[in-house]
Amino acid sequence: MPPRTIEWIGDLQGCVQLIDQTLLPGRLELLQINDIETMFEAIRSLQVRGAPAIGIAAAMALVLGVRETTTSDRGQFLEILADKSNYLASSRPTAVNLSWALKRLVELANKEKNASVAQLKEMLLAEAKAIRDEDAATCKAIGENGVCLIEPDCSVLTHCNAGGLATAEYGTALAPLYLAHEKKVPFKVYADETRPLLQGSRLTAWELSQAGIDVTIICDSVAGHLMSLGRVDLVIVGADRIAANGDAANKIGTYSVARLAQAHGVPFYVAAPASTFDLSVGDGSKIPIEERAADEVVNGFGRRTGPKDVKVYSPAFDVTPAELIRGIITEFGKIEPVNAKTIAKTIR
Ligand code: MRU
Repeated sequence: MPPRTIEWIGDLQGCVQLIDQTLLPGRLELLQINDIETMFEAIRSLQVRGAPAIGIAAAMALVLGVRETTTSDRGQFLEILADKSNYLASSRPTAVNLSWALKRLVELANKEKNASVAQLKEMLLAEAKAIRDEDAATCKAIGENGVCLIEPDCSVLTHCNAGGLATAEYGTALAPLYLAHEKKVPFKVYADETRPLLQGSRLTAWELSQAGIDVTIICDSVAGHLMSLGRVDLVIVGADRIAANGDAANKIGTYSVARLAQAHGVPFYVAAPASTFDLSVGDGSKIPIEERAADEVVNGFGRRTGPKDVKVYSPAFDVTPAELIRGIITEFGKIEPVNAKTIAKTIR
């Protein structure tokens, strides 16, 4: 069994332990984090990444940020909590799971009117741990609701990493694959390498091969060619934020894969928990898209691949319009067809 992607070790004075994903697949190393600033940096630098995992990380970071506060005044404590929550929310803007998890902690503290500050700290820790455990159960349910898509001898293409490393366990897009593998269904996976940070080749290919699943890495530009040869039966990807109408933001390049799938008649599915839906956003045009540093494109992994000072545009995510998505696999079942009405019926 690989170590857990992220977990809280010990009691309130304990720490957060996570797999440093920037070192994979070369080294499997665990980081122990004791303060909010280090966790902010771990999220920003993608040591922990993937929408549900950064939600868990942010919740645990908020506990790290308030556990040493000396005030016993409840009002003052709630102000500090709100400030630290806003700070953490600014670490990465696109995945809504991050602000969803922070909001859950802040609302809990505000609701517990009779609790002392010491009790609030313990309650916040329990809630952060619950977010992790619920995510593991949620991902398993997504797997159960999506496993029927994995037919014997099919080929599935995925983009980026929406696996166990991006969540508490199992993943979202990869959960149906893990469950099919447990049921001994034979299938193969094509993992887009996912430029510029290679989450597909470094992380998806690593975790699937650890599990004994047949996985082949392809350069992102190979997907269309493979589809034209009829060698892709199904696409499943994760999401970072899904608007009320079903438009879904995910790792840059997902939209191109969805258009290719449409052109070749390949069903394109998104797998995501309810916490990835943002019903306050009507459509994908309102989803904030993170831009990443130029160096990740032209000086990635320590090798210069573009002229110094060249202009670089590096959005980390793009939006796939709902009409290209055959269905969204959630813990509550499949949303199919994808539109505002079917989403509102399943996600509240
Ligand atoms: O920049 P990253 O690596 O955090 O991007 C991750 C993705 O785009 C995933 O597909 C998404 O968060 C879903 S994870 C279950």
